[in-house]
Amino acid sequence: MAIKIAFFDTKSYDRESFDQASNGLAYEIHYYKDRLSVHTAQLAMGKDVVCIFVNDECDAQVIDLLASYGVKLIALRCAGFNNVDMKAAAGRIPVVRVPAYSPHAVAEYAVTLMLCLNRKVYRSVYRTREGNFKLKGLMGFDMYGKTAGLIGLGRIAKELVKILRGFGMNVIAYDPYPDKAFAEAHQTRLVSLDELYAESDIISLHCPLTDENKFLINRDSIQKMKPGMMLINTGRGKLIRTEDLIEGLRTGQIGSAGLDVYEEEQNFFYEDRSDKMIDDDKLALLLMMPNVIITSHQAFFTREAMHNIATTTLENIRDWAEGRELKNEVK
Ligand code: NAI
Repeated sequence: MAIKIAFFDTKSYDRESFDQASNGLAYEIHYYKDRLSVHTAQLAMGKDVVCIFVNDECDAQVIDLLASYGVKLIALRCAGFNNVDMKAAAGRIPVVRVPAYSPHAVAEYAVTLMLCLNRKVYRSVYRTREGNFKLKGLMGFDMYGKTAGLIGLGRIAKELVKILRGFGMNVIAYDPYPDKAFAEAHQTRLVSLDELYAESDIISLHCPLTDENKFLINRDSIQKMKPGMMLINTGRGKLIRTEDLIEGLRTGQIGSAGLDVYEEEQNFFYEDRSDKMIDDDKLALLLMMPNVIITSHQAFFTREAMHNIATTTLENIRDWAEGRELKNEVK
């Protein structure tokens, strides 16, 4: 019998890649545009699996509902699992994820943000389209010889190290469980967080969001950073306390910020809201700042990553259906 999957927060590109990957296989995928929440959980009634993404809400209340509807597996089609209450799921519904669909996609995107911000490409494109060919205000700096500090040295950060070393940058990293052999092989100095704050010209966040590191970047940590440094976040929005970031940008302590994720992104990202007011003062202010780039959680969004997400998610579901070991289970 076909496995019934309730697929939440569906976009056309999700449907395309999952239809392609599931072609001819025993899956019955019900695509829903709604995000999973207490208000939409009933769509999962009678389904075996729910398939969710980064901004679906899978808290304790939702997990109670899913269990009562007979859902037997939560399949995340992403790496991060901060939106699932793992304590509430434990022992009731197993949770699987896609731990690495393309670390290259995210690492390359972090570099994209760095280069765009540094060389102000987004501003020059606007200018030349308006017929303004002046260079005033567009000066950047050589990446060569500068210091990049990576918080988290996992799969994505390791790819980033290789790219940044290629630029001739010094790379330092903080990770509570560092891969010392990798660090040594790639001339990456492991440092404490305080050392990283003090020495980095660019800081890039590559750790998961946990209860312990929520708002890791706050007024205190910002004060420890080099004046005028660049902050890049392709991790999770809640790693940064937005109001403290804004204060840091106002005082010049933070020179520029490239954000692919935002503390309250679930209210905006992945939707066309161009005909509405942005009713979030902090987001509106950041969007007005000439030294800030915000993108809509798109670092993962490459053809290769979408293909890997679909095939790994369906493999995870098949492993569960066939009673095999769940190699991508979140414990
Ligand atoms: P990973 O699991 O391979 O590496 C994470 C590393 O962070 C580990 O080495 C771990 O020891 C370290 N870590 C844990 N807590 C830490 C802390 N408090 N401070 C510093 N390091 C800490 O994960 P991967 O694949 O490198 O992804 C990292 C994060 O990037 C994901 O958790 C996810 O939130 C985010 N992500 C964002 C995407 C986007 O499209 N913007 C796409 C994919 C992932």
